[in-house]
Parts: sequence; C-alpha cells; structure tokens
Amino acid sequence: MIPETLLAPSAAQRVAIPRRYLMCPPDHFAVTYSINPWMDPDEPVDASLAARQWEALRDAYLDLGHQVETIKPIEGLPDMVFAANGATVVGGKVLGASFRNEERQAEGPAYMEWFRKNGFAEIHDPQFINEGEGDFLVAPGANGHSAGDWILAGHGFRSDPNAHLEAQEFFGMPVIGLRLVDPRYYHLDTAIAVLDKETIAYYPEAFSPGSQAVLRTLYPDAVVATAEDAAVFGLNAVSDGLHVLLPQAATGLAARLAERGYQPIGVDLSELLKAGGSVKCCTLELRS
Ligand code: ARG
Repeated sequence: MIPETLLAPSAAQRVAIPRRYLMCPPDHFAVTYSINPWMDPDEPVDASLAARQWEALRDAYLDLGHQVETIKPIEGLPDMVFAANGATVVGGKVLGASFRNEERQAEGPAYMEWFRKNGFAEIHDPQFINEGEGDFLVAPGANGHSAGDWILAGHGFRSDPNAHLEAQEFFGMPVIGLRLVDPRYYHLDTAIAVLDKETIAYYPEAFSPGSQAVLRTLYPDAVVATAEDAAVFGLNAVSDGLHVLLPQAATGLAARLAERGYQPIGVDLSELLKAGGSVKCCTLELRS
C-alpha cells in the first residue's frame, strides 16, 4: 500500500487563486458586551495592538497578491471589524446580513450601503436572520466533481434556518444546512475552513451527529481538526487554494495542512480573539 503522504498533492501542485476581500479596520474595536463565550467585557483589550495585528493580516493578503477593499468603521459598532458577517457575495450578487443580537444590528445596513456605493447592482435585503459568511461558506460541491459550489450553512446559534432557503433561492445554489451545537463555535466559520475546490477542514464535535454524518459523506477527504485546533480558533482560516492564513497558535492544524501540500501562514490576532473572532471573521470574500 502506498502511504497516504505520498498520494497527497505537494505544494508545487496546489495553486493560489487571487482573491478580492473586504475588511474593516478595528478603529472602534472593543469588547463592551458579551454575545459569545469568548467575550469578557472585564478583560482589557489593547486597541493599538489590535490595530497592528489587523494591519499585519491585511498586509499578508496584499503580499500574497490579493486585493483588499476597506469599509469605514462606525463608532459604537465594536464588532464591525468582523467583515465576514457583513454579507455573502457570490457571482457579484450580495445577500445582506441581518444580525441576531441588537448590539450588532446596525452593521447590516452599513455593509449594504458599502455594496450599493461600490458598484454591486444586485443586493438582496434579507428577510431572515443571517450573519453573512459567519454562517454561509461557499464550498466545493459533490466531492470535487463538476456540480459546482454549494453553500454550507450553519444554524443553532445565530443564523435562522429560514435564511438558508432564502440564500438558496437568491443565489440559485444548493444550500446544505449544518447544525452547530457547541456555544464556543457559534458561527460556521469557527468550525469549518474551506480550503480549495476539493475539500475543507472541520472540527466534527462542533456539529450535531446528523450534521457530522453529512460532512463525512460530502467530504471524505477533509482535514479533520482536533479539539486543540478548534480551541485556538484554528478553523477560522482563509485559504487561497495554496496559502492558508490561520491563527498562529493552531500549530497542529498547520502541520496537517502542510502534510497535505498547503502552505500554512500563522497570524497572531490575540486581541480580536477576545471578541471571539480571528482571521476569517475579519475577511469577507467578494466573489465576482
Ligand atoms: N463578537 C462577534 C460576535 O459574536 C464576533 C464575530 C466573529 N465573526 C465570525 N465570522 N465568526 O458576533
């Protein structure tokens, strides 16, 4: 039998595809309320360190040849830095976000306004609660066959399952609902990272037994993350098909990604993690 490592694609075979991202500088970032188990308003946040860490993430994208757009942060919206929650964009079509918690509700219209002003013609005002790419991940369909992409959609803590159907109708793409069961992994992008056109990385225990079975069926070749990887937010990663930017503490996951031919790049976002966010949360992909 050939060892699996010999079958895995090498870094030379993986291809980075240039992306366009939207990010929001953390000018008004703070932890002033708690809407997930990571947030403790009594724990101090170093605002200037948060800014430097965010800039390092943006610079890493630029160095890799990606395009980064920015939206102007609004005072009083400390979580607006988490651009991934601002919308879902596929084929230039924008599904606006509608937030579960009152503290974040004003972010939805603020992001929609950015899209309106930046040449996106087809913008859908959401009817049901959905927290953008926090819970909607565009992922490879049918085990890498020709069926195109699917949307993996989380529910259980934030997005309403009715929003899954709304997304399916709006984008005309199959939406696969997945139930999140661990409050630490309250958004889908804390438990799944899309790696490329073939597979994903995910932490099974964040999902209900039924959803775990669905993921095993859809992605038999997935990179399966451990409890340690998940606990340092390792799945909150952004991949361009070759480079995978992920929280630097996720060393185990980084090693497994490297074995599979990806190039992991560790990023320190310690201050943003105090709000329950990291690499992916700060990054919204603008798919044309
Ligand atoms: N404090 C924010 C919240 O709980 C963090 C959002 C993180 N974003 C994400 N895409 N997971 O809503």
